[in-house]
Amino acid sequence: MTSRHYQLSPGTERAALQASTRTLAALKPNQVLIRVAAASLNYRDLLVRQMQSDNRASLTPLSDAAGTVVAVGSAVTQWREGDRVSPGFFADWVDGAFRPHHMASALGGGQTDGVLGEYILANETAVVAVPAHLSLAEAATLPCAGVTAWHALFERGNLQAGETVLVQGTGGVAMLALQLASAYGAKVIVTSSSDEKLARARQMGAWQTINYREHADWDRVALELTDGAGLDHILELGGPDTYTRSLNAIGYGGRIAQIGVLSGFDAAPHITPMQFKNASINGICVGSVAHYTRLNQFISQHQIHPVIDQTFAYEDAGVGYSALATAKHFGKLVISVN
Ligand SMILES: NC(=O)c1ccc[n+]([C@@H]2O[C@H](COP(=O)([O-])OP(=O)(O)OC[C@H]3O[C@@H](n4cnc5c(N)ncnc54)[C@H](OP(=O)(O)O)[C@@H]3O)[C@@H](O)[C@H]2O)c1
Repeated sequence: MTSRHYQLSPGTERAALQASTRTLAALKPNQVLIRVAAASLNYRDLLVRQMQSDNRASLTPLSDAAGTVVAVGSAVTQWREGDRVSPGFFADWVDGAFRPHHMASALGGGQTDGVLGEYILANETAVVAVPAHLSLAEAATLPCAGVTAWHALFERGNLQAGETVLVQGTGGVAMLALQLASAYGAKVIVTSSSDEKLARARQMGAWQTINYREHADWDRVALELTDGAGLDHILELGGPDTYTRSLNAIGYGGRIAQIGVLSGFDAAPHITPMQFKNASINGICVGSVAHYTRLNQFISQHQIHPVIDQTFAYEDAGVGYSALATAKHFGKLVISVN
C-alpha cells in the first residue's frame, strides 16, 4: 500500500519540505494502521527542520496527529476499525518514569518518522482514544502542546484550584495551559507581545494579562498583580530572555515548569533565589501515553475545545511552517490531511 507523506531532506541550511510517496511497511500483529485526518504544528517542528539539515537521509516531520483506525494487527485487542485515535508524542513512553531510551521514539524527531502523511502505523499501546466532543483537527493539537501543559500543571505541578499560574505568549502550549488551568479554577496570567491576543486570552478566561513588549519588567507587574506573593506556577517557555524574570516572579513554594526555548537554549540564570523561596523547577519533556489519556479525560469532563488559529490544506504544509515561524498565530496551527 502506498501513502503520500512529506519528508525533510537534508542539504540546505533549513531542510527542504518535500512531498513524496512511500510504500507502507506490513502491519505487525500489535500495530494499528491509522488514516490521518489532521496534523498540527509545534515550535519544535521549526527546530527539527533546522537540525535535520545535517541529520540523516530524510525524515517525515511532525509529532501530532489524529485519525481513524483502518486496519488492526492480528494481536490487537484495544482498537477496531473506525476508532478515532491519536498517537502519543513518544511511541515508547507508555507509562511510568521517563527513561533514556524513550527519547529516540519521539515522533518526527531526529530518529523516528513523524505523522505528516496519509497513513501511519503505530503500536496499539502508543495511541489514545479521541474525546467524543472533539473534531479530529482539534484532537491533533494535543499530543505535544496539550500533554506538555497537562504534565507541567497536573502531573508534576500538583495544581490546586485558586492557585495562580503564569504562561508566556499565546502559542500552543500557553493557550492549552490557560484552558486547562482556568477550567480547574486556577487564576491565569497570560503575557503576550500583542494587546489583541491578550484581549482574546481574557475572553478565554485569563484572570490578568501583561503585554511584555510594553512592560519589559513583566515580573514586577506579575508580583503587583499577586499582591507581592508571586506566582504558584510559571510555565517557562521563553528560555534565556524570560528565565531570570520567571525566577523573580515565582512565589514561595512555587513551581517553575521548565519547558521552552523560544529565545534560545541554555538559559543560565542565577538560581539561588529558588532556595530562599523553597521553590522548585520541574523539567518537562512532553509526556507519556498515560499522561495523554488523563489529559483527554479532563478535556472530556470540562468539554474543552483547543483553539485552532488556522487550518492549512495538505498541499500547503509549507505555508503552515511559514505561518508558525512568523508567530502571528493564537493557539494552534493545523494541517488538514485527509
Ligand atoms: N519541553 C517540552 O517538552 C516542550 C513541549 C512543547 C513545547 N516546548 C517548547 O515550548 C515553547 C512553546 O512552544 P509552542 O509550540 O507552544 O510555541 P508557539 O505556538 O510557536 O508559540 C509562539 C508564541 O510564543 C510567544 N513568544 C515568543 N517568544 C517569546 C518570548 N521571548 N517571551 C515570551 N513569549 C514569547 C509569542 O506569543 P505572543 O505572540 O503572544 O507574544 C509567540 O507567538 C517552545 O520553545 C517549544 O520548543 C517544549
